[in-house]
Amino acid sequence: MQLNFIVTILFFLSFLAYNVYAEEPVIFDIRNYGAGSGDISQALLDAWTAACNSTAPSIVFIPPGTWQLSQVKLHGPNKAPLELQVQGTLQANPDPSKLPDKDGQWITLNYVDNFTLSGGIFDGQGQQAWRQNDCHKNQNCAKLPINMSFNFIKNSIIRDVTSKNSKNWHVNCISSQNVTFLRFTISAPGDSINTDGIHLGRDTMINITDSIIGTGDDCISIGDEMKDLYIQNVTCGPGHGISIGSLGRNVAEKDVQGVYVRNCTFRGTDNGVRIKTWPSAPAQLQISDLHFEDLIMDNVSNPVIFDQEYCPHNLCKLDKPSLIKISKVTLKNIRGTSATSEVMSFLCSGAKPCENIEVGDIDLTYTGTLGPATTKCDNIKPILVGKQNPPICATPAQSA
Ligand SMILES: *[C@@H]1O[C@H](CO)[C@@H](O)[C@H](O)[C@H]1NC(C)=O
Ligand SMILES: *[C@@H]1O[C@H](CO)[C@@H](O)[C@H](O)[C@H]1NC(C)=O
Ligand SMILES: *[C@@H]1O[C@H](CO)[C@@H](O)[C@H](O)[C@H]1NC(C)=O
Ligand SMILES: *[C@@H]1O[C@H](CO)[C@@H](O)[C@H](O)[C@H]1NC(C)=O
Ligand SMILES: *[C@@H]1O[C@H](CO)[C@@H](O)[C@H](O)[C@H]1NC(C)=O
Ligand SMILES: *[C@@H]1O[C@H](CO)[C@@H](O)[C@H](O)[C@H]1NC(C)=O
Ligand SMILES: *[C@@H]1O[C@H](CO)[C@@H](O)[C@H](O)[C@H]1NC(C)=O
Ligand SMILES: *[C@@H]1O[C@H](CO)[C@@H](O)[C@H](O)[C@H]1NC(C)=O
Repeated sequence: MQLNFIVTILFFLSFLAYNVYAEEPVIFDIRNYGAGSGDISQALLDAWTAACNSTAPSIVFIPPGTWQLSQVKLHGPNKAPLELQVQGTLQANPDPSKLPDKDGQWITLNYVDNFTLSGGIFDGQGQQAWRQNDCHKNQNCAKLPINMSFNFIKNSIIRDVTSKNSKNWHVNCISSQNVTFLRFTISAPGDSINTDGIHLGRDTMINITDSIIGTGDDCISIGDEMKDLYIQNVTCGPGHGISIGSLGRNVAEKDVQGVYVRNCTFRGTDNGVRIKTWPSAPAQLQISDLHFEDLIMDNVSNPVIFDQEYCPHNLCKLDKPSLIKISKVTLKNIRGTSATSEVMSFLCSGAKPCENIEVGDIDLTYTGTLGPATTKCDNIKPILVGKQNPPICATPAQSA
């Protein structure tokens, strides 16, 4: 009797669940909002606005084909799970001066929850427009519009997205929570300037998985107040590798805690994994709980570098050490080739020496003419485990 009752209830519940999940999402096709051969910005915005208002799960659909998109700001909140499904190619205007809001990004996606961006080729058309880019020497240079911003987004997935032909590709994901980037492909030439792949800051629980990122700048750059970032099976190169920082310049910066970089490959990058903090700078935060494991380096200039004397273009003084503490780090199973003889460099702060740094199973070779592979170690006493090639911090650690 009781069993029958339970079975009936279970049957009823599974029937309900079936109906909930079998519910077809409502489709908002941009062609029904006026998208045609011209700029689809308004049509996309209108379809998006309608979808955000839907109380049933919905899909904003961009069909196959090539679509011109000048600029769009897609803001939530959405009322139910929402997917932006791109089957076509979105093309930016090749002329950056045509961006309607010059201070804005090309595509901004803010304040959404249970959101999915799936598929699509985002074509920045950078080749023509950014030839005159001088942002490497001019801080007031023209802002370049190939930039996607995901801010204040939650419980979201960005998958199977490809960027091509963009000299400046720059994804920002700020103040977000529980976001997965899956099979994200970014390609920009190695000589394009300031084109970070994915820039993160003030986020919690971000996964970047099964992705390929080639840029002219950082593959993934990590700003302050990051918590629980998982980077897995990502191939970086060309570019500057995965970088935490630079940190320290702004007194309001907060701790970075929990960065897990696993099963990644770096090909021909300037750095593999890097931490950079400014000397003579006010912020006193902590960078801790970092795990760099199972990494392959293929001709990387600085496979591992902690630089607490980061001071590009003489923008700072070196007289006072960085006040940022780096602790609880594991560097395990890192193999491959270095393009320079200094295969690991730990320039830790004299004021806040690196602490609890475990280094194990390292096999990094250098085959150039500048002598044997070495490591550089200031203000660090690593805990060594497993095999070490070359010997790590073999000469006594110096103090600053
Ligand atoms: C939102 O949807 C409701 C019905 O669910 C409708 O009455 C209302 O007009 C819609 N608002 C907008 C701005 O589309
Ligand atoms: C997102 O999903 C969670 C869990 O299913 C649910 O509680 C929440 O209401 C959803 N929010 C939106 C905007 O879909
Ligand atoms: C991308 O956006 C950030 C701010 O969100 C801005 O600082 C940066 O200059 C932009 N990059 C490009 C290439 O437009
Ligand atoms: C994170 O977001 C995914 C959807 O992308 C959701 O399935 C999962 O439950 C969320 N996790 C947490 C801890 O909220
Ligand atoms: C992110 O990666 C971690 C570690 O692999 C995993 O535990 C977690 O479930 C992943 N989260 C999502 C939303 O995929
Ligand atoms: C790693 O990512 C690449 C690129 O997305 C993919 O082809 C490959 O199958 C992934 N490897 C694993 C073990 O998942
Ligand atoms: C890392 O790659 C190895 C094989 O190359 C695979 O066995 C392992 O499951 C991968 N681990 C993760 C966390 O992706
Ligand atoms: C390694 O990288 C350097 C530049 O960093 C380059 O000059 C050299 O040709 C590369 N070697 C190989 C074997 O790819």
